[in-house]
Amino acid sequence: PKEQTLAVIKPDAMEEHKEEILGEICASGFSITQLKETVLSRDVAEKFYIHHRDKPFYIQLVDFMCRGPCMLLVLTKENAVEDWRSLMGPSDPQLAQQTMPTSLRARFASDILHNALHGSSNQEQAQEKIQLLFGDITSHKDLTSN
Ligand code: CMP
Repeated sequence: PKEQTLAVIKPDAMEEHKEEILGEICASGFSITQLKETVLSRDVAEKFYIHHRDKPFYIQLVDFMCRGPCMLLVLTKENAVEDWRSLMGPSDPQLAQQTMPTSLRARFASDILHNALHGSSNQEQAQEKIQLLFGDITSHKDLTSN
C-alpha cells in the first residue's frame, strides 16, 4: 500500500542544493504529490517543532527554519516514511558521512542543526505535519474573488 511522508528542504540547502535534492527524490521512486516553497512564520515553525520545545536548541532551530524559504513536499510511495529517512541519512551529518556517505545529509548538511532536510518519523506524525503545513490551503478565504 502507498504511504505518505512529509519532507522539508531546509533554508540551508535551498540556495545551492534544491535541484539536486529534487532530482534524487524523483530518481528514488517517490511521487511528489504536494509541493510548496514558502518562508515559515515563527508561529508555524514553533508548532512544527513543538515536541522539541524543551530542548536547548529549540529557539535556534525555530530561528533557522524561519530565516529563508523552505521547500515543503508530500512524498508518496510504498514505505515512504522509512525510505525517505534512509535517503536523508542520520540527522548528524558527521555520522551520516561515516555510516551512509551517499545519503543526502552526508552530502549536503553542514552540522546537526543545519542538516538540510527533515522527514517525518512515522505515518501519524506525517499526517499531523501535512495538515499543519498544507491543510490551510483550501480553508483560506480566496482573496482574488470580488
Ligand atoms: P529534524 O529531523 O528536522 O528534527 C529536529 C531538528 O532539530 C533536527 O532535524 C535538527 O535540525 C535539530 N537538531 C537535532 N538535534 C540537535 C542538536 N543536538 N543540536 C542542534 N540542533 C539539533
